[in-house]
Amino acid sequence: MAREVRHDADGPAVFDADDLGDDGKLYVCRCGLSDGALCDGSHNATADETEGVRYKYEDDDPGGERRLLERDRTDG
Ligand code: FES
Repeated sequence: MAREVRHDADGPAVFDADDLGDDGKLYVCRCGLSDGALCDGSHNATADETEGVRYKYEDDDPGGERRLLERDRTDG
């Protein structure tokens, strides 16, 4: 599973102590679906994605329509 997302930022995200979770850890989004650089739980929309498939979420919105873009040709 992979997904295609659009990033418009042209610089780094800056974090401080206020960004830390209650457990003192920083949760940086890696799924590309959060509204910001930090995880906001949007990755839950990817729970049923299939390995070897590339997806695109409409407007990069985890609640938006999810389209299958491509299957990995080496994946069976
Ligand atoms: S990893 Fe992207 S929202 Fe959690």
